[in-house]
Amino acid sequence: MKTIRVINGPNLNMLGVREPDIYGKTDYKTLCEMIENYAKAIDVNVQIMQSNHEGDLVDWIQESYNIIDGIVINPGAYTHTSVAILDAAKAVGIPMVEVHISDVSAREKFRQVSYIREACIKTISGHGIDGYLEAMDILVNLDESNKQ
Ligand code: DQA
Repeated sequence: MKTIRVINGPNLNMLGVREPDIYGKTDYKTLCEMIENYAKAIDVNVQIMQSNHEGDLVDWIQESYNIIDGIVINPGAYTHTSVAILDAAKAVGIPMVEVHISDVSAREKFRQVSYIREACIKTISGHGIDGYLEAMDILVNLDESNKQ
């Protein structure tokens, strides 16, 4: 059975409260339950984490080395700023899918820059919270030979 880690960056714990017109009304706890239920349905182990601190995201990516089959990552605002998170992703070489709840390509210019994208096999943006499930599907169905 594959193990997937879902890593969420700053302010994603504020889902439901935070700008609901952009990020929807579902709260973070419900998102986690949705991911856990989906993981059961597709028969994968899932570990869900969230932090407002850049270094935590770097640590969790590094710790994934050799123990995690795929990472779903929504680095929040660190998407647009963090070389450290990109470097961690490149260091471990684990298949990674970038997820954004909102369509970052249609928002402010600064959101159209993604550092992490370079280390990801795919980006899902603007599909709401369903994007997390789509990302899990991609990682679960990834052929062994496609692994980075
Ligand atoms: C986000 C988009 C980012 O620009 C923003 O800083 C977030 C959430 C999204 O899921 O749409 O925190 O990653």
